[in-house]
Amino acid sequence: MSGPVIAVDGPSAAGKGTLARALAAALGLPYLDTGLLYRAVARKLHAEGGDPGDADAAARAARRLQPADLAREDLRAATIDRAASQVAALGEVRAALLGFQRDFAARAGAVLDGRDIGTVIFPDATLKLFVTASPEERARRRWRERVARGEVVTLAAVAAELAERDARDAARAAAPLRPAEDALVIDTTQLDAEAVLAAAMAIAAARLNRSQPLTSPA
Ligand code: CDP
Repeated sequence: MSGPVIAVDGPSAAGKGTLARALAAALGLPYLDTGLLYRAVARKLHAEGGDPGDADAAARAARRLQPADLAREDLRAATIDRAASQVAALGEVRAALLGFQRDFAARAGAVLDGRDIGTVIFPDATLKLFVTASPEERARRRWRERVARGEVVTLAAVAAELAERDARDAARAAAPLRPAEDALVIDTTQLDAEAVLAAAMAIAAARLNRSQPLTSPA
């Protein structure tokens, strides 16, 4: 039997990556940032001169993904953001990436962050967290990250890009962004990374203990 699977879903720049990475380290579980899969498909397609709306070409790129494609330095480039959310709306692309995500957690369990981990990829996850924050705070965080990387970009432009991507992720027919019914929501608007981890660890400890097999009463 596999170890625990922890699903961390939510919109862009809500802090799910930071939380998921820290949870994985604290619990000794492998970690997968599933956004990298969609980013890698978008980058491959772009490098081949393909269009992110071309479902057949995008699905072919998804089927040909190799582990090295996920390790590239350029996947977080702002130019990939929009194309990633466009290929992510294609059911064929999502279907091509499903097996890799399930296999990743098959042996030891895992912490995975994304948009549909608790709703589609692991509907029976041990613990489902939905991490969110106000649109203004998320835009500020993403703007600060991009400025720190040396980009020249306004807060208003970042806010508009995030709003466009959130709307596409939530409105698509294939695995739209939404909390699973049994997800616990953590709003990080007023919390720093340490406080978010503490809240999630408290929830995880309670849930993981409860999921241990019960010994029969004496
Ligand atoms: O870091 P950020 O939240 O901006 O993006 P990301 O998590 O790297 O995801 C990039 C895009 O991939 C998102 O806008 C989604 O459209 C898509 N995605 C998805 O559809 N499902 C996932 N499990 C992860 C990402």
